[in-house]
Amino acid sequence: MGLKIAIPKETAKHEKRVAISPEVVKKLSDMGCSIIIESGAGEASNFPDDVLKKAGATIKKDYESTVKEADIILKVQAPDKNELDVLSRGQLLISMLSPFSNDKILNDCAKACIDTFSMEFVPRISRAQSMDVLSSQSNLAGYKSVLDAAEHYAHAFPMMMTAAGTVPPAKVFVMGAGVAGLQAIATAKRLGAVVSATDVRPAAKEQVQSLGANFIAVEDDEFKEAETAGGYAKEMSAAYKKKQAALIESHIAKQDIVITTALIPGRPAPVLITADMVKSMKPGSVIVDLAVETGGNCALSESGKVIEKHGVTIIGHINVPSRLAADASMLYAKNLFNLISLIMDKESGKLAIDWEDDIIKGIAMTKNGKIIHPNFIKDTKSKTIGSNKKAKDSKSATSKKTTTKTKKD
Ligand code: NAI
Repeated sequence: MGLKIAIPKETAKHEKRVAISPEVVKKLSDMGCSIIIESGAGEASNFPDDVLKKAGATIKKDYESTVKEADIILKVQAPDKNELDVLSRGQLLISMLSPFSNDKILNDCAKACIDTFSMEFVPRISRAQSMDVLSSQSNLAGYKSVLDAAEHYAHAFPMMMTAAGTVPPAKVFVMGAGVAGLQAIATAKRLGAVVSATDVRPAAKEQVQSLGANFIAVEDDEFKEAETAGGYAKEMSAAYKKKQAALIESHIAKQDIVITTALIPGRPAPVLITADMVKSMKPGSVIVDLAVETGGNCALSESGKVIEKHGVTIIGHINVPSRLAADASMLYAKNLFNLISLIMDKESGKLAIDWEDDIIKGIAMTKNGKIIHPNFIKDTKSKTIGSNKKAKDSKSATSKKTTTKTKKD
């Protein structure tokens, strides 16, 4: 008997994605897995029940019957308390748990003896690129941010020379040139805008320039050290932020559209656009704040709202990847498929998790009733939660060593 993999319908507000696609149903079925999907789960991603069924899935009518017998549950967002209560000990839940913003989730999963992998923690090593959900989702968010800006901007993006006069090109400034920012630059360039960008990581400079945009940054000694070994930005000092703000202030006043994507993992997003900077922009300008869910890069943006302040439209949509649900689900499902291929023994069709693998060490949050991720263990002894319920070994998590090489990019 192969693995039973369940995909319930997402219940979180603003969530249209689903953790499966018809392509992945087929691939997993070919590997001997049984795929059970809650009716309607793929609807908002344009994967109706009959298409998923045709690809090889079994459709169940409700959450409970979907997850009941499963070895693995695939989700986009963390389950809520009611959903968690239905899961049984030893099941493996793979989703984006957001433990930094949802501080109870790991405790609750450990208490219920649910083993969990949190996909946002896939390490940034070459071998794991095909499982990197932050990249697959941010890339779409970067693209969509430019389209959202265009929708609210009352001018064209490209320069147009007509008999009636010349339309100047839009000036687009992208703050934070990571995955989302680079895609925003590429999209704005394709639409014909004049694009500039900033970042605190030196590696971003070449990437920005290679896309044909101007790089704007305070390139001092702190800038040279601003990238962590994992490829993320460090929080900058107050002195750096002051110099950065002075540079940005004069630049922003000349821009038509500003797209902000600056994040620091596990911390609130840095405020890069002050209220005064918004005031300095021309009427009709547009700001898209992709960091709005973690506090926002713009002091005036509001989560989940499109507002107008000082004549400037400020867009603060939440869960932007979900606004492109079909592609976001398709790529997320593929990320999950690549992970399942890593943790499944192809011959026996059973789970074969190598808990010492760098990828697994990065994403494994709870196991056998304990929080095991080093970033979230409260005391170093990693105390068993729910001690009178003896945590039995995960259903089929037989430890198998694979020889895997990890290479830093
Ligand atoms: P992110 O989503 O954490 O942050 C977005 C961007 O904001 C980053 O480029 C960051 O440097 C920038 N930022 C932070 N504070 C800032 C500030 N005060 N001012 C201006 N910019 C600021 O980062 P993301 O997009 O997840 O990736 C960062 C980099 O990681 C990528 O550009 C890439 O080089 C690397 N990466 C490597 C992968 C791999 O598998 N090897 C996969 C994906 C990304």
